[in-house]
Amino acid sequence: MSTDIRSESAPFSIPNTEWAGQELYFYETIDSTNTKAKELATEGARHGALIIADEQIAGKGRSGRSWVSQKGASIYMTLLLKPQIKPENAPMLTLVTAMAVCDGIESVAKIDCQIKWPNDILAHGKKVCGILTEMDASRGEIHSIVIGIGINVHNVSFSGELSQKATSVDLESGKRQSRQAIMEAVIRAFEHYYAIYVQTEDMRELVEGYCKRLINLHQEVRVLDPKDPFSGIAIGITPRGELIVDTKEGTREVSSGEVSVRGPHGYV
Ligand code: BTN
Repeated sequence: MSTDIRSESAPFSIPNTEWAGQELYFYETIDSTNTKAKELATEGARHGALIIADEQIAGKGRSGRSWVSQKGASIYMTLLLKPQIKPENAPMLTLVTAMAVCDGIESVAKIDCQIKWPNDILAHGKKVCGILTEMDASRGEIHSIVIGIGINVHNVSFSGELSQKATSVDLESGKRQSRQAIMEAVIRAFEHYYAIYVQTEDMRELVEGYCKRLINLHQEVRVLDPKDPFSGIAIGITPRGELIVDTKEGTREVSSGEVSVRGPHGYV
């Protein structure tokens, strides 16, 4: 059973932000915080509302995959935005969020984080966070954007293929970290980066900071475009967040969408 709990009584709170996370919904168990955020958006939840769950029974990942969401183990949260921006500029918010997640985890757990383009967060080469952004827009107008953030925090092991590529904040930092502190730091950092992004509705002021964290930078990448897969060396991102890849035939710019990128021999 799910219960709506406003910020007064939720086990988590986001103090000291201007707008993000001030309206807070907490659920012990829910299908997916992204699904709930979309529902709340139509019911009048405000720009900046944050939906947090302790467990998801139908957590969603990118490309139709599911996101394993064991009770109490990780952070499952979705930030609802109702921004006055053009729909075509919204995908960059995922990259903005990736920067905020890196800052947030680093400041609390003191571990180095990197970004695998466009928005996987890695600690010591393994995935520690995934981001799923979904938009509801029609006739050039955005009704809502939901940014779902899943951060592995207390997990001690991962099953199946995840065992090779996933990790948690506790495992990498060698001690038990606080989900509250990480959430707070991530949302605060998001507010900071969002304010920069929204001025131009692109990444032009954030390219440098993003590239400092980009694990693919100067590395060989394989772009898994179902229609046209190709390889090259990643040399940066454009102000629109596209990955710039140097190939034998020249430079190509790759936009995120459903395209994913791999290293020459595996995930990174
Ligand atoms: C990915 O595949 O890398 C994206 C994973 C996103 C998972 C988060 S957990 C909170 C939010 N609710 C969901 O159902 N998914 C996102």
